[in-house]
Amino acid sequence: MCGIFGCFLKNENAAPVIHSSLKRLEYRGYDSVGIATISEGTLFIKKGQGKIDIVHKDLNLDDLPGNFGIGHTRWATHGAPLQINSHPHSDCTDKITVVHNGIIENFNDLKIELQNLGHTFVSKTDTEVIPHLIEEIIKNKPALSLANAVQEATKRLEGSYAIAVISSYEPDKIVCARNESPLVLGISNNGIYCASDIPAFLPLTNKVVMINDGELVILTTDGYQIKKLQDGSTLERAPERVEWSAEMAVKHGYPHFMIKEIHEQSEVLRNTMRLQDRYLDLMSTFLDRATEIFLVACGTSYHACLAASYMFSKLAFLPTYPVYASEFIEQYGKAVNIDSTILAVSQSGETADTIAAVATAQQRAATILSLTNTIGSTLTRISRVYIGTQAGPEIGVAATKTFTSQLSVLAQLALRLAKKRGKVSQSEIDVLDAQLEKLPDLVDTIVKTQEEKVKQIVHKYANSKVIFFLGRGISTATAFEARLKLMEIAYIPSVAFPAGESKHGPISLIEQGTPVVFVCQKDDTHKTVIGNIMEMKARGAKILAIIEEDDNEIKPLVDDYLEVPKNIPSVLSPIPYVVPLQLLAYYMALEFNYDPDMPRNLAKSVTVK
Ligand code: F6R
Repeated sequence: MCGIFGCFLKNENAAPVIHSSLKRLEYRGYDSVGIATISEGTLFIKKGQGKIDIVHKDLNLDDLPGNFGIGHTRWATHGAPLQINSHPHSDCTDKITVVHNGIIENFNDLKIELQNLGHTFVSKTDTEVIPHLIEEIIKNKPALSLANAVQEATKRLEGSYAIAVISSYEPDKIVCARNESPLVLGISNNGIYCASDIPAFLPLTNKVVMINDGELVILTTDGYQIKKLQDGSTLERAPERVEWSAEMAVKHGYPHFMIKEIHEQSEVLRNTMRLQDRYLDLMSTFLDRATEIFLVACGTSYHACLAASYMFSKLAFLPTYPVYASEFIEQYGKAVNIDSTILAVSQSGETADTIAAVATAQQRAATILSLTNTIGSTLTRISRVYIGTQAGPEIGVAATKTFTSQLSVLAQLALRLAKKRGKVSQSEIDVLDAQLEKLPDLVDTIVKTQEEKVKQIVHKYANSKVIFFLGRGISTATAFEARLKLMEIAYIPSVAFPAGESKHGPISLIEQGTPVVFVCQKDDTHKTVIGNIMEMKARGAKILAIIEEDDNEIKPLVDDYLEVPKNIPSVLSPIPYVVPLQLLAYYMALEFNYDPDMPRNLAKSVTVK
């Protein structure tokens, strides 16, 4: 989730404007920054690793000449957060340069093809194929305009992109194109802007033009032209006014980051489906060969590990041990050895307990694998293999989109292992693969259909001394995560147990009206869960169930229900089933006027043990 920006100004140098606009996009990532401008037909570039202020202090980003240019603030996905991988990326002749937000899925094939044609690559990014592709097209068809060359290049790209391209071949325009990554124009009396997001130019103008997937834009001193990427036909689109404050714009009009991030989950899940096969294959090969596997994490990431232990067992017939990172050294520290494999999961990649557990295991020669949302974090540096979970920066303290992205990657690993180990039939794998592909749309549907319902019922559960969360099988992990979300942002004491375990003690807390939330996916556990609902009802509990749409067995038994679409395989169920529960926690916090983005006593990255 990088930020791109470009501008064409009438009477000023572009670099200071690009610099300040990138600062307003820093919430999209700040691993590195770069700016390119054109002045008197010559291309100028400055870029560096680290936050914008640090790079600016070193390089003075503002003194680049020229009244137009492009810029980028990076959140690393392909290639570590190093100077060499920072955007803009250029072709072999340094005449074409590109900033990009998104993921080019087929970059490796394109890179090999271009290298065979003599192109030299300097970075490890997926983006660098774009300028080389444009260069190659122009080399073969010198009469082609820059815009047409960009249009032709995009036909070879698979994946998501919002790009802005400038070139000394045509030193009077910026060419942009979009597929699945955001792109918006801003129009003012002083100039014209293109950006990943409105906050970038909001202090300069509130007149915006939204760019859609499959569109190309040419910015010049005279204005903008929108064309269809497919056939080059021109589209007319007038600017509209947005009435957002700067703060609202960063949150995309949502009142809090947490709800924005809940809504972003469908897009994030789509990105997790674009992971490079070779990394998933490599990690699943390590897991397949392992003698024993510990899934190590804290908090929400631990719940992803708990869910993964069911996935690995059910799909790949592979036992794994989910362990709280803070307990790992005491519980297993002396037992790990060269035959042990640790799969550490951490959104930040910096959690002190997770790093300490991994460091101990590493000293004892264990193999370290990891999933993290932060490429370049400590965890990535000490792992043999790591995979980025593609969620983009998460700002709300309560993890939401990073959780579902972790689950998606873990499910993909489990499926690959299933295939490798030949434990599940190909037809079953095909069904699961297809369902995984559908999840982004299903999550979107859940948010759209259940948000209003959650708002309507939340007050009924607000004034409770304690709330129970129960699930069976893999839904135990969903119940644990739902409890953590509610507790951490709405400060309601909550209890989560595997539903079967509840009668071994916790049930003594149930009084008339005690809320019990059941996660009721439709699988082999369904009948037993109904039994558990009846046990709770018999003791006066008020039941809220998360059910499959039209689950007419459970509907009449419960006080309230929230629904998710039908036929979601049990092993994938935590991804959709947690969404209504994230919404429940969020709206519960609002009932009490708490700030869900900044819960008391908590930090986004816990770097103390
Ligand atoms: C809860 C939450 C925390 C984190 C935990 C681990 O909403 O965000 O429980 O999951 O602190 O953090 P990471 O994943 O960064 O290791």
